[in-house]
Amino acid sequence: MTDAATRPLRLAIVGLGTVGAGVIRLLETNRDLIARRAGRPIEVIAISARDRSKDRGLDLSAYEWVDDMATLAQRDDIDTVVELIGGADGPALTLARQCLSQGKPFVTANKAMIAHHGLDLAHEAERSGVALKYEAAVAGGVPVIKGLREGAAANRIMRVYGILNGTCNYILSTMEQHGSPFDQVLDEAQAKGYAEADPTFDIDGIDAAHKLSILASLAFGTEIDFGSVDITGIRHVLAADIREAAALGFKVRLVAMAECEAEGGDNVGLFQRVHPMLVPLDHPLSHVDGALNAVVAEGNFVGRLFFQGAGAGEGPTASAVVADVIDVARDEYGPAFAMPAEWLQRQVKADTGQRIGRAYLRFQVEDRPGVLAEITAAMRDAGVSIESVIQRAATADEGVLVAIVTHPGALSAIDDLLRRLGGSDSLLGDPMLMHILD
Ligand SMILES: NC(=O)c1ccc[n+]([C@@H]2O[C@H](COP(=O)([O-])OP(=O)(O)OC[C@H]3O[C@@H](n4cnc5c(N)ncnc54)[C@H](OP(=O)(O)O)[C@@H]3O)[C@@H](O)[C@H]2O)c1
Repeated sequence: MTDAATRPLRLAIVGLGTVGAGVIRLLETNRDLIARRAGRPIEVIAISARDRSKDRGLDLSAYEWVDDMATLAQRDDIDTVVELIGGADGPALTLARQCLSQGKPFVTANKAMIAHHGLDLAHEAERSGVALKYEAAVAGGVPVIKGLREGAAANRIMRVYGILNGTCNYILSTMEQHGSPFDQVLDEAQAKGYAEADPTFDIDGIDAAHKLSILASLAFGTEIDFGSVDITGIRHVLAADIREAAALGFKVRLVAMAECEAEGGDNVGLFQRVHPMLVPLDHPLSHVDGALNAVVAEGNFVGRLFFQGAGAGEGPTASAVVADVIDVARDEYGPAFAMPAEWLQRQVKADTGQRIGRAYLRFQVEDRPGVLAEITAAMRDAGVSIESVIQRAATADEGVLVAIVTHPGALSAIDDLLRRLGGSDSLLGDPMLMHILD
């Protein structure tokens, strides 16, 4: 072995919260095994975070504390920087740019930064000829980045989709189990540490959209386009929707889905959507419960791949970060998005109205005659036909509830239907639309 391969890989770890502390704990616990797998020892040289005095439940006295992380990019005694701060911009991005431009390999778990700046960072990494690794940024401990970059690299991927936010999945599965309302389950999730104090990024679908835009780029060889993801979160899902979905043979899940529409082998439109969907009970995603994540990728030779595991938490996320570090130690890395950044294609956003699918519609309506007839007349006029319908007697909090599953049709017809019903004084509140995963 050459000297470069046997001398330790020397790390700086910036950010010592859930993931950073987990990375240190993992490197300490599995030190010898990791050294054998990596072909050389991996040593933490320097650490940095905001508050040096914070008790992190770890003895950090063996590591050099660095106040000014900007110095790390310049240091010859540090081979690789591991960023575990978070945030699309700010110190994480500054550090990434400094390290990559100085030729320092960079490992991160930061999906927000990769979704917004991954393309620029990939260009910078290639100019310097160093690794940019981000396995932990999507689906935590599940090796889906590696799966797509390497395992499925020979395939044209037609579709990639999954459950990418454990907080939403925990909330939806708990609502399903107990019939409890969203707000109550969110409060409980926050008390148990499954949801952040500010849960907006999770429950409004932004976190899942960050991850989806990264997966789409890898799967289709397209430039990351976070801005074109259509995003709807789970705030407006009622316990009644989950109950009616079950009666119709579905579970409700926040599904992130991307497809690259192709014509004659060329990609002609990128479809990316994060939306609560109805998942048929016989689909593997309907069995993904609690805080788990899962990703399905459909390749033209491999068929359907299904990845599942813990999408967050100290251990699983640290596992993914250290897997990236091991790749750097082995000198095994390629372009960040599986091909040189300049070969990634820029895509237009696909016209979603032309897509064909089934939909679930829920209306809360006045308890008086003629209301169902008004809805069905609007459906007829919009060209939307009904596959099944449930009407529930009025309750104090829900009014009369009408839940409809449509036959497959152009999604633009559903939009037309909702426009026609907009402003109807028979409706109590906005209708709920969820597409069906077929
Ligand atoms: N938690 C998960 O399960 C999970 C899963 C997948 C990916 N990720 C990603 O991993 C990254 C870290 O997440 P986390 O959950 O570990 O976050 P966290 O617990 O909030 O920890 C963040 C760390 O960054 C440090 N930090 C914040 N601002 C800083 C600044 N301006 N300068 C220096 N240090 C700063 C904090 O320092 P102090 O401790 O001194 O305050 C803290 O140690 C994020 O990108 C996140 O999206 C997390």
